[in-house]
Amino acid sequence: MEKIIDENKQGESLILEQKENNKRKLFIESYGCAMNFSDSEIVASIMADQGFNTTQNLEDADLVLVNTCSIRDKAEQTVRKRLEKYNAVKKSHNPKMKVGVLGCMAERLKTKFLEEEKIVDLVVGPDAYKDLPNLLAEVDEGRDAINVILSKEETYGDISPVRLNTNGVTAFVSITRGCDNMCTFCVVPFTRGRERSRDPQSIIEEVNDLWNRGFKEITLLGQNVDSYLWYGGGLKKDFDNASDIQKATSVNFAKLLELCAKAQPKMRIRFSTSNPQDLTIDVVETMAKYNNICNHIHLPVQSGSDRILKEMNRLHTREEYIDLIDNIRSIIPNCAISQDMIVGFPTETEDDFKDTVSLMDHVKYNFGYMFTYSERPGTLAERKMEDDVPENVKKRRLQDIVDLQLKHSEIRTKENLNTVVEVLVEKESKKSNEQWSGRTPQNLVAVFPKAHYKVGDFVNVKVTDCTSATLIGEAIGYSENN
Ligand code: SAH
Ligand code: F3S
Repeated sequence: MEKIIDENKQGESLILEQKENNKRKLFIESYGCAMNFSDSEIVASIMADQGFNTTQNLEDADLVLVNTCSIRDKAEQTVRKRLEKYNAVKKSHNPKMKVGVLGCMAERLKTKFLEEEKIVDLVVGPDAYKDLPNLLAEVDEGRDAINVILSKEETYGDISPVRLNTNGVTAFVSITRGCDNMCTFCVVPFTRGRERSRDPQSIIEEVNDLWNRGFKEITLLGQNVDSYLWYGGGLKKDFDNASDIQKATSVNFAKLLELCAKAQPKMRIRFSTSNPQDLTIDVVETMAKYNNICNHIHLPVQSGSDRILKEMNRLHTREEYIDLIDNIRSIIPNCAISQDMIVGFPTETEDDFKDTVSLMDHVKYNFGYMFTYSERPGTLAERKMEDDVPENVKKRRLQDIVDLQLKHSEIRTKENLNTVVEVLVEKESKKSNEQWSGRTPQNLVAVFPKAHYKVGDFVNVKVTDCTSATLIGEAIGYSENN
């Protein structure tokens, strides 16, 4: 899910407000998806209560925590390299340093981590962060500690996350954990467990709290947000056994979106990620009804070939996907749509690949994230299929669709020329300290001269120029949302 987290944020270490009485030093860094970055905020909040202040220097850290990703082999290799780095620092500068691995790799490798990586003292899976104080006590006494139990209930709804490295404007709010979809290529159902939804009351409280602290945009997070379903707690798969009253008062994703939109009518609301098989029209209609819900849907499809979609256990056809896109566009004509795509899934032929290309040509996505297939241990694809598309073919197919997406992004970006777009100012532009940078509801970056505007303002910007992925313009006033 590099989709939300910038490449340049990968591995960013986090720095928090220092508490005077906290004497120990924590170095915490995250890899992978937005959910991991959001989880690290929960972990940081737990660790602050355990007497830790954050540091950005490995050399003086008492404890190093790394929140890890297993989605592709490359993600795991990156973390292995970091462990080597910690090891080197521990040997040369900081013998007291303890190292803990959090997140999906911890869940996937479990005790193997302690065996394979001598540097690791602590292994904690995504549902076990509340156990950190106990695990830490073990480590303090010189024992390795591990908790990789996946939970049916844990949503961390009761922990108020510390906002890390924040611009004070945008924040993530997690609404579901786990995934039940079992796409055959994907490790997430194994590392993050069964799907469960968080109490809407605690979500709304968090949204209200963020607004009161000056935040202007939230992204509701989950592996499959459209599948959100609250009926008093419990797994999504057990909903059929719920009582009549539980069913009658249940909250689905469309309802949750509406609750958030109404709770803070000026707060911009985004969500990620949608799954075509679960995205219902009532969600799109709710988006259309509320101005503050951003017109952007991240709608991964993975392949344009019906045969491959079936092998991937994606539970929709190409035609159904195209119908969905058509419906979205008829309800919200200016809705941005983005994709995730995998090339080189086992048995993918040149014809299957052409179907992917033609689907992209048909949709002309605003942007997208494209990957070569990476076989993940334990998944159905790994157990049942041979990873038979040669690496050079995978690479060529990837380059072809990356180039194609670039063209489409450029077409979509240019559609904004000479229009007025609403930009929420997030930060100074990287290229010029005289310009602000922010995003449009369609999630497009826009830059414009600062004038008297400030971070957190909603500004109407007349678009005068653009690059393939950035709008360039002039502010013409506050938007009505301000
Ligand atoms: N539903 C999740 C998907 C998480 S994985 C979400 O919230 O986005 C993000 C993307 O990584 C997937 O959409 C898919 O395109 C890609 N991906 C997942 N497993 C992969 C694998 N084994 N090899 C290559 N890419 C993969
Ligand atoms: Fe993975 Fe498919 Fe769920 S991609 S996270 S199993 S929707």
